[in-house]
Amino acid sequence: MFRVKIPATSANLGPGFDCLGLALQLYNSIIVEPSRPFKISLTGSYQDGIPADESNLVWRTMCHFWKLIHYPIPSVALTFENNIPPSRGLGSSSAAIVGGLVAANALAGSPYSKYKLLQIANALEGHPDNVTPALYGGVTLSIPTEGGMIPRVLSQTPNFKAVVVIPNTLLNTAKARGILPPDVSRKDAVFNISHAGLLIEAFIREEYSLLKEGMRDLLHQNQRAVLIPGMLETLEAAFQAGAYGAALSGSGPTLIALIPENSKIAVTREMLNVMEQHGSNPQALVLDIDSCGAIHSII
Ligand code: HSE
Repeated sequence: MFRVKIPATSANLGPGFDCLGLALQLYNSIIVEPSRPFKISLTGSYQDGIPADESNLVWRTMCHFWKLIHYPIPSVALTFENNIPPSRGLGSSSAAIVGGLVAANALAGSPYSKYKLLQIANALEGHPDNVTPALYGGVTLSIPTEGGMIPRVLSQTPNFKAVVVIPNTLLNTAKARGILPPDVSRKDAVFNISHAGLLIEAFIREEYSLLKEGMRDLLHQNQRAVLIPGMLETLEAAFQAGAYGAALSGSGPTLIALIPENSKIAVTREMLNVMEQHGSNPQALVLDIDSCGAIHSII
């Protein structure tokens, strides 16, 4: 019997659209034990709408992996403990795919490396900015190349915390991508390239005073603000209350602020206040950065 623990993730971090992300100490778990017949059970804070049958995304991912490596599908009992809120921009579907792959690989005797699992996860999920930190932990950069997705861990144990403010409304990634224009101007592209470069420098050098400018974006955040009432005002409130930087988490609707420890109360209070003023009823969490990525351990 073993457990796979997979972190929530926050993608983009402002200008790093589809390539930068970080892992958070908020976890889903998959507990795997031999069983006949096959069985899925759900626990944790988020169970609604998650199928407990063979259509389940984690199970489908496990079967996909075994087919790929020609391994016979074992009969198991799976218990999912879901603590990552779904459809909020915190990487819940990446966690399902990464968790399924890590569990299936472990059951097959771990024939695949993390790097090979990343290639499969990326092909299934299509969002390396979530799957790379979910597998590797820390702050990551994903580089698409002809030979595959190259993962780089920019900072394994960054010295900041994250405040995540999670609205109680769901936002589908396809919808949040659908409102983005298909083309970007050269001026906006240059803005994002330069800011993503600054952001990477800030993470590598641990110069967090650079995050405020480094997390600015022109490719997707302003465009998505129409879907998230109070988004721009809440990001501004985070800066004013002492955050190093703040951004839309993935495609939203969650907002994330990266903060020094001593500003957690003020940043959380101000972000919640502003969101509430805009009619949202959000939940806030103060989280540390996960530095391991998905792991499996015998229990
Ligand atoms: N980068 C994606 C987006 C989020 O902003 O649409 C999920 O990885």
